Amino acid sequence: MHIDLSRNSSVKLYLQIAKTLADRIQSGLLPQGTKLPSVRHLSSLLAVSPVTVSKAYAELESMNLVTCTQGKGCYVAEPSIPVHREGKQDLSWQMSLIDYLPRAQLWRNFNHSRRAAYSFHIAAIQPELLPTREIIADTQRLSSVNSDVLAAYGAFEGDSELREVFADHLNERGIPIVAEQLLVTSGAQQGIDLVARTFVGPGDVVYMEAPTYTGAIDVFTSRGAKVIMIPMDEEGMRTDILTRLCDTHPPKLIYTIPTFHNPTGITLTMTRRTQLLDLAQSYHCLIVEDDPFSDLYYKTKPPLSIKAHDQSGHVVYIKSFSKTVAPGCRIACVAATGSVMDRLVAAKSTTDLGSPLLTQKALLPFIRNRLDQHFVTLREQLRDRLTVALNTLHRYAPPEVTWYAPEGGLNVWIKLPSIVDIPELERMADREGISFLPGTVCYAGGMDSSHIRISFSYADKETLKSGLRKLCSLLGEILDHSIIVERKPIL
Ligand SMILES: Cc1ncc(COP(=O)(O)O)c(C=O)c1O
Repeated sequence: MHIDLSRNSSVKLYLQIAKTLADRIQSGLLPQGTKLPSVRHLSSLLAVSPVTVSKAYAELESMNLVTCTQGKGCYVAEPSIPVHREGKQDLSWQMSLIDYLPRAQLWRNFNHSRRAAYSFHIAAIQPELLPTREIIADTQRLSSVNSDVLAAYGAFEGDSELREVFADHLNERGIPIVAEQLLVTSGAQQGIDLVARTFVGPGDVVYMEAPTYTGAIDVFTSRGAKVIMIPMDEEGMRTDILTRLCDTHPPKLIYTIPTFHNPTGITLTMTRRTQLLDLAQSYHCLIVEDDPFSDLYYKTKPPLSIKAHDQSGHVVYIKSFSKTVAPGCRIACVAATGSVMDRLVAAKSTTDLGSPLLTQKALLPFIRNRLDQHFVTLREQLRDRLTVALNTLHRYAPPEVTWYAPEGGLNVWIKLPSIVDIPELERMADREGISFLPGTVCYAGGMDSSHIRISFSYADKETLKSGLRKLCSLLGEILDHSIIVERKPIL
């Protein structure tokens, strides 16, 4: 494993080492029982003192991630979340292969969520609410008439018919764009990755909301960017703080999820949207506007996207259809203009020579003819689930627990009293078959967060209600217990 140490950082070297190792352990990439390199070996590898490595190992031990025994070394302890094991093959040699993975949290979160009975972990919609049968039927019709779909390479930028349909879709949402300014990608994740690999290099400053979407953090840090996270309030990213920081750390790129932000659910106000655009224009930096949720509003329509006001090509807008239509198709579109778009298409060509034509053609009839009606039904269904989630929290959550009530999207961002040990809550919840996203993975520095994210869209209403109730009662148990523990010395 490559441990990237930043010697000028204010974060101490031992904590940087501990953080990288902790990520590997928590994600399951360093399995239970793995022996960590000896203090002497790691210190010479990283050109740091043995004391620094010893302190890093002590830090991991205090987090219960490793156990160290005098004379025997340090071993990865039992994971909080059980991870998949591969038979009896001895693959231990693989641990000596150096890799350049920055964090493995996204992989861990997706992996884990598949097992839970009460799956509140992943921001996805329950399969029953998605038009999968219709899309399969469309695919069957398509493959019986058009075998070219499989016998040819498609255009790097995507199927021209699909891009026309996407352009109409975005025009209806106030984004003045033509098909030539659209690129079809394998989900929004690939869109973010293409922008990063095209425009972000080591040391470039990337601003993001704090907290933000885990997968985007991993993409930008893997490019060696200097990721700076900007606090949020109920109006979204604090543009006043951002503006001040830009003076000393000019931005290369600002990544934002302005509408029903993941994980908080907050929507950036119109005034702040305009401020962001002004900032991008004065620094000639890019804004990446990631917008998977704007059609999922449960009260009023959200403000128009930042892209809708962009007349100077500063905004790269990413619209995922994988979330709301068919995640398995892996289809999103990226809207950009001028040479920014040309360079993104060039990046797409070296990445995968274009997205699969079969899935693009398969989605075409649905997106062209039935998408708007689908959104109407989806909004009704998800509005109901959000109501169930909020009512259940109101009724059963201990009074010290608070949350932001979103008006759209898929998530509720819950603040727990700082006394709650979230890894411990995770272990307890896992035993009950409940999964949630610990807030800490939504911060670039793995900052400690007293939040958790609950997605209310994957479970049906009954499951949502009973799972949340159980989770609230676990929280109650922890808080009751912590009161007893706290009171002990007084007694
Ligand atoms: C804000 C945000 N952007 C991008 C993605 C990735 O989406 P896709 O499935 O389209 O790659 C997600 C998935 O959770 C997300 O929440």
